[in-house]
Amino acid sequence: MKVISLLNLKGGVAKTFTAVNMAYELYRRGYKVLLLDNDKQGNLSKAYGRYDAESVAPITKLLSGEWQEAAELIQKTDYEGIDIVSANMSLMGATWKLTTEETGNQIERYKRLIDAAVLGHGWAVIDYLPIEQAYDYCIIDNPPDIGLNVVNALTITDEVIVPVKIDEWALEGLDILADQIEYAKRYNPALRLLGVLVTAYQNTDGEAAGREWLETEKNSYSLLGVIRYSGKVAESTFLFKPIYEYSPCCGAAQDYKKFVTRYTGKAR
Ligand SMILES: Nc1ncnc2c1ncn2[C@@H]1O[C@H](COP(=O)(O)OP(=O)(O)OP(=O)(O)O)[C@@H](O)[C@H]1O
Ligand SMILES: [Mg+2]
Repeated sequence: MKVISLLNLKGGVAKTFTAVNMAYELYRRGYKVLLLDNDKQGNLSKAYGRYDAESVAPITKLLSGEWQEAAELIQKTDYEGIDIVSANMSLMGATWKLTTEETGNQIERYKRLIDAAVLGHGWAVIDYLPIEQAYDYCIIDNPPDIGLNVVNALTITDEVIVPVKIDEWALEGLDILADQIEYAKRYNPALRLLGVLVTAYQNTDGEAAGREWLETEKNSYSLLGVIRYSGKVAESTFLFKPIYEYSPCCGAAQDYKKFVTRYTGKAR
């Protein structure tokens, strides 16, 4: 299993939208995907129809260590092969509480899940499998900050993908993020910043200049793909659906497909 974190200290750059659609595209290619909603806003949980505002969210239990079996945390979605550990505002309290705890491991809470066993999908459903084997990918949607819940995510992450929207200040904060990732390598040497994904791209002079800069080798970030802006996205966000299901021909849907093909090295 490969663990991918969508991360950017900026809000509204399509971290969640990328998590939703990357998971869906991997699923369409037959991969098994586990989603971790690591944001108290719970937008990824909403997108996959598993948002529950009332109870203590599974991700909160994971962070606080208050769980026995992985089955208490992982829910199925409507897609056979996409499962989710959902979030809500309760995550905020648990994150805060963890900063005040003086004992216990504060950065390996999520690792305990990766080491746990679950009933797999398909043929594996009769047997308990380590999560490592039950899923091909784990995608973590992060909030636009670095709290202890994000540090826990980085502890289990193999690859960080940074979605960016090219506006005047788009690249601001990337250096801080890169520094944080360098720092996190101390406790997770496998961690690496894979690159940036341009999202909601509009072919204006300003955005084209930003894209060009990312394409040059003068900067240290690999450009993983460019997702076009699409008016259809606003409607699909409202309907809480992967864009491919809602409007398979629109630019954004096509571009997420291309991005995942390039990422996996396999077309559908
Ligand atoms: N390709 C696109 N075309 C048009 N709109 C887009 C596109 N991608 C994302 N958006 C819109 O941008 C907005 C922000 O997206 P999203 O919620 O995924 O960002 P985020 O980085 O997760 O934000 P936050 O930091 O608040 O969690 C949403 O309204 C979404 O519909
Ligand atoms: Mg988000």
